[in-house]
Amino acid sequence: MNKDQILKLLKTVSYPGFTRDIVSFGIVEHIQVDKKNVNVVLKVAAAEGKRKTILNAVRKALEGSGVFEKVNVTLVTKVSDQPSSGPDEGIQPNQSIAGVKYVIAVASGKGGVGKSTVAANLAAALCEKSIQVGLLDLDIYGPSLPIILGLKEQPKLTQERKLIPLEFRGMKVMSFGFLSGDDSPAIWRGPLVARMTEQFFRDVVWGELDYLVLDLPPGTGDVQLTLTQKIKISGAVIVTTPQDLALADVRKGANMFQKVQTPIIGVIENMSGLRVEGKVLDSKGTPFANGLIHISGEESKALNEKGQFNLLLDLFKTGGGAKESQRLGVPLLGTIPISREIMEATDDGIPIVFQKPKSFVSNVYRDIVERIIESI
Ligand SMILES: Nc1ncnc2c1ncn2[C@@H]1O[C@H](COP(=O)(O)OP(=O)(O)OP(=O)(O)O)[C@@H](O)[C@H]1O
Ligand SMILES: [Mg+2]
Repeated sequence: MNKDQILKLLKTVSYPGFTRDIVSFGIVEHIQVDKKNVNVVLKVAAAEGKRKTILNAVRKALEGSGVFEKVNVTLVTKVSDQPSSGPDEGIQPNQSIAGVKYVIAVASGKGGVGKSTVAANLAAALCEKSIQVGLLDLDIYGPSLPIILGLKEQPKLTQERKLIPLEFRGMKVMSFGFLSGDDSPAIWRGPLVARMTEQFFRDVVWGELDYLVLDLPPGTGDVQLTLTQKIKISGAVIVTTPQDLALADVRKGANMFQKVQTPIIGVIENMSGLRVEGKVLDSKGTPFANGLIHISGEESKALNEKGQFNLLLDLFKTGGGAKESQRLGVPLLGTIPISREIMEATDDGIPIVFQKPKSFVSNVYRDIVERIIESI
């Protein structure tokens, strides 16, 4: 076997928790073949459990080929988990905005799929981990952050007429929507939306940030193109809904990022099924402990000792996100059900991760953040 054949073999090993293989993840550091001996070095910064899983899977694949007498697999950790280390540490820290390490773009081919809600909650979940986070709403036509975060203040300007972001529970936030008052700063009045967006992007003083989450306007128009070409985006997350129409639009977004060589971190399927929680009581208010609930078209579900249940109803044909992520060869980062709590949190102007940190969906957002961090 030569190096290429070994690489092909290693491509059959997927990274734990992802559908993507370890080669495309960029962890294969070194391969040395000497007749019947093979030596593979992998660079893995993951937790011990995952490291073991990878080590065993790689060993098994190489030994299973029946070609080698001696298989040697070594795992090295990155020199440092700091993103500023070494030239081959995966996605490079952003160079274009001083003090900002990584820029994550949240995009969608179609409007109204829940992109802004996802962006705000991912930022909130990052912030919870004591990571310095900025959230920038670049939707000039329909800025959402003022509603999602319930913010109405106008940002202040520095002496150099740069914008100082607002603070929301420890994260820094900026939106076109904050500037739409009568005395909005002149910097964003320009002939072209794309130019304005780019300028706006650069005219905010973020300070030191680990992650800047961008809420891109929906679609694949001028603004998105300018941004993806001119600003060094570390990775893009694409939000989709299960309907096929939304998926077709997602493809356009994904193709755009691929054209400008912005890595796609993964796909998030939002509004994927309807989550219903409740309890069944008799006419006296006594719980139907350990009973069954049956909804037409669904499988019966057991009530617990308090008569409580939770169900995920498949409203549309779900699973589109999985299909799309497979086609793009990128992981499905998570599926978020339609949830009344998410809608209520939007109405209250507090992302659900902050408002109801223990809720089911807050944990879904947290899991997605873990995957994003790991991928970056
Ligand atoms: N999983 C969900 N469950 C219930 N409601 C949701 C969910 N995700 C988003 N929503 C609601 O859907 C509406 C649209 O969401 P949002 O504004 O985040 O979409 P968007 O993709 O950013 O839209 P636009 O294209 O207009 O920017 C909001 O009212 C939001 O509360
Ligand atoms: Mg939006």
